[in-house]
Amino acid sequence: MKNLTADELRDLYLKFFESKGHKIIPGASVIPENDPTVLFTTAGMHPLVPYLMGAMEHPAGTRLTDVQKCVRTGDIDEVGDAAHLTFFEMLGNWSLNDYFKKEAISWSYEFLTEKLGFSPGQLNITVFRGEGAPGDEGYIPADEEAVEIWKSLGIPEERIFRLPREDNWWGPAGTTGPCGPDTEMFIDTGKEKCGSGCRPGCHCGKYVEIWNDVFMQYNKNEEGKFVPLGRHNVDTGMGVERTICMMSGAPTVYDTEIFAPIMAAIDRMSNVPADADPAEVLKARRVIADHMRTATFILCDPKGGVKPGNIGANYVLRRLIRRAVRFARMLGIAEGFTVRLAETICAKYAHVYPELKANLEQCKLDFEAEERRFNATLDKGEAMYRKVAEQLKLHGQNRISGKTAFKLYDTFGFPFEMTLEMAAKDSLEVDREGFEEANRKHQELSRTTSAGSFKAGLQDNSEVVTRMHTATHLLHAALHKVLGPTANQKGSNITAERLRFDFTWPEKMTDGQIAEVEKLVNGWIEQGIDVTKKTTTVEEAKAEGAMALFGSKYGDQVSLYTIGDVSKEICCGPHVANTRELGGFKIVKEQSSSAGVRRIKATIANM
Ligand code: ALA
Repeated sequence: MKNLTADELRDLYLKFFESKGHKIIPGASVIPENDPTVLFTTAGMHPLVPYLMGAMEHPAGTRLTDVQKCVRTGDIDEVGDAAHLTFFEMLGNWSLNDYFKKEAISWSYEFLTEKLGFSPGQLNITVFRGEGAPGDEGYIPADEEAVEIWKSLGIPEERIFRLPREDNWWGPAGTTGPCGPDTEMFIDTGKEKCGSGCRPGCHCGKYVEIWNDVFMQYNKNEEGKFVPLGRHNVDTGMGVERTICMMSGAPTVYDTEIFAPIMAAIDRMSNVPADADPAEVLKARRVIADHMRTATFILCDPKGGVKPGNIGANYVLRRLIRRAVRFARMLGIAEGFTVRLAETICAKYAHVYPELKANLEQCKLDFEAEERRFNATLDKGEAMYRKVAEQLKLHGQNRISGKTAFKLYDTFGFPFEMTLEMAAKDSLEVDREGFEEANRKHQELSRTTSAGSFKAGLQDNSEVVTRMHTATHLLHAALHKVLGPTANQKGSNITAERLRFDFTWPEKMTDGQIAEVEKLVNGWIEQGIDVTKKTTTVEEAKAEGAMALFGSKYGDQVSLYTIGDVSKEICCGPHVANTRELGGFKIVKEQSSSAGVRRIKATIANM
């Protein structure tokens, strides 16, 4: 096995696939361009969905390769162990209805053994074992073709594992889209098996997955059905961090050259209390390194627009930063560390991702503000906690009630984990169940009452009203999608507090319809769609498919506002330049307005 750096691995991979007729294409933004169903780009295939579906031809051809920045935060709470990362780089090669299994598998094998120098004996393979029986609806056969190809390359039967859908089916990335059976490549680390059932896919650490070849022949549609695409695509993904870890023989990804400067910077800033638990310290170092790397890539993304906030991608970013701050306090790291780590991360990656350099200054400002804000919250929360603890002691009690823990969390923003940690140090118990119960009740309440919690600060009312205007267009478009073209605007009224929108519809909307409308609008907001304006005539605007209010009087020249392919409406404006500026959207009320007319009241996040 060779001991390559990440720089060398990227280079080797792209050149290898270039030599197999692939065009090297740039990786995309980590904030998805076209898919409202996901918050971040989670795989290299993501930006290629329209081409995999066959909806468009890719200008670079049918064989593509790249390196893609990916963010996956589903397992954020697991970060800190040896394996989980919320950001990683994915090397990928694609066939857009060009080559298929034989070439894909053979090239994977050739690259792993000849270019990276893994011994064929270390390779363990999984394939899809099929689903249903011939003749059943939804029957999908086992991938014996992949098995035969692996065997022809010299992998013996006992190192090929036929596994179910949970293991060997990939995608779609969001709720719908291209997907298919896959074959995954695992490196046997040589560790003992954790038990008789230990096999590739087991999480004990014996087998590490480094590459996945997906045979994307299916589309999952909105009804949840897998429909053959009529195309034989290949989508592969190799994890840079894990591959480097396996090649270098490092015990974890955090011990590789990739993380070395970040870990070193954390250690330089640390002032670990003498009585700290070493396992907790190790976890904290890793969480800080991982979360700061992810947050830096999000803040520096060329597409921009994701800032720490309370919903969607903004909330994920806030969580990453706040978790890093919390763990940094555990290590005795002083305020200002986020900025310093952003610099370290930038120095490590800027030659590959120039956006890290270009956007570093703004990124540092964002880190600084969020770190300061959260530290202030924590200081206040800690002081409140102390009061609570003192009171208990005074009364000879040793249990923090769920209600009190929830108050610390809800009113003072003090993370529940911190109440638990501090209580453990003070030998106090915490009523966890009571906390969960209070939290659940609160969430139910906030779903049904006003979205007052969205209100974030003082802003110029006219700006809020502008954003609300754009939200109204998105709402109108979403109602058309969910209810159909007869759900037409009857009236609209906007204040700095809320928007009100009346539309023709004969009955109460269901909770499902309301949720769907919200989801669509939030998806468009997250997508960050540009809003454009042009001056035209009513006739021309209508010919273009613009919505115009029935009965409205327009002059000769009108303004036509277009929001991507979501909405086209004649309107006086003003509107925001990009839907991202709304931050988020929430329906507060749906009620009757008059016979055949419903009324929606809604708010946006950036008020
Ligand atoms: N899209 C595939 C994955 O993420 C390659 O594993």
